[in-house]
Amino acid sequence: MRTDIADGLEGIVVAETRTSLVDGAAGRLVIAGRDLEDLAGNASFEETCSLLWRRPARVDLGPARVRAFELLPRVQAALARSDGMEALRGAVAQLSTADLGEDGNASLTGAAAVLVAAWIRLAARAQPLPPDPARGHAADLLRMAGLPHDADPAAALDAYLVTVSEHGMNASTFTARVVASTASDPVSAVTAAIGALKGPRHGGAPGPVLDMLDAVKTGDRARAWIEAELAAKNRIMGMGHRVYRVRDPRAAVLERAITRLGERRPTQRLDLARTVERVAEEVLAARHPGRALRANVEFYTAVLLEALGVPRAAFTPVFAAARMAGWCAHVAEQLQSGRLIRPDVRYIGALPG
Ligand code: COA
Repeated sequence: MRTDIADGLEGIVVAETRTSLVDGAAGRLVIAGRDLEDLAGNASFEETCSLLWRRPARVDLGPARVRAFELLPRVQAALARSDGMEALRGAVAQLSTADLGEDGNASLTGAAAVLVAAWIRLAARAQPLPPDPARGHAADLLRMAGLPHDADPAAALDAYLVTVSEHGMNASTFTARVVASTASDPVSAVTAAIGALKGPRHGGAPGPVLDMLDAVKTGDRARAWIEAELAAKNRIMGMGHRVYRVRDPRAAVLERAITRLGERRPTQRLDLARTVERVAEEVLAARHPGRALRANVEFYTAVLLEALGVPRAAFTPVFAAARMAGWCAHVAEQLQSGRLIRPDVRYIGALPG
């Protein structure tokens, strides 16, 4: 890697933000002034939105879900796509600034949940279910997707949505801020962000994490499977992070949420996941002694969302529905104070003559 080029923009500070602090060395995540461990499980997703969007009153996403459901006929063709992220990207892209009304953040965040749930239903050849605006956002997302939505699963999904709502200058958030920095509109910014989140190096990993657990089958096979994967030059999904040099703090929060859920529904998956994580960590440490490659948020996302009955293909779309809150906060900040983001590039092609 050339040291005079900021390849991957690692360590480059491009903005000031009040949304979150990601301390990669300490493994600490602060979202809008609250430690993640304090937030997830204690504050709802709506309360987290209020903090992120700096609202004095608790955000109510119910009316936004109702309005979004009314727009479904217009975006139904996009939702027919077999890839959930393509469907979400296409459907969100068809929203107009006029559709957002006065509260664009709530409209986009409410719409994301409705669109993801509708896609889950349509993929299962079932009709989309209308929202119940009186319910909490997490419970209603599960209900609209046709999944169990009583207190335990709703609390677990709520903890998940809060945990992944915001995370510093990750690739999709940066994408949203780049678009917003041109003074473009929020719909364009979050549509681009969805495209960035889709990639397996960012939000596309939890489905493959489950594929890995399926392939490993039992803990005693983990080491051989991981060694073979690395020999084939594949990455172990759910391991490694650009910023964290310790275990991703979100992994612990999600692991705890699964354990709570498991008090009623024992999950062998969690045992297998823990074994695979331990072995992967050991094998990767031996291969990369100078680089801590530990579990990231996607590892236990996979186990949690599976336990909630979310289909594997919908894992990244559900992630997007949560991260919409963070994207909106960053877009607002960028629109308010940010300068056009326009880095440079060094030309190494031929010159005429
Ligand atoms: N499995 C195997 N090797 C890995 C790895 C993984 N999950 N993550 C990183 N490495 C290796 C790289 O191959 C590289 O090896 P090299 O120096 O021999 O080329 C070294 O570790 C450093 O990796 P690097 O590419 O610099 O890390 P990054 O900061 O650019 O990448 C991720 C971060 C998240 C993209 C990367 O860890 C990854 O691809 N993880 C798997 C996908 C995933 O879980 N994504 C969700 C992220 S929240």
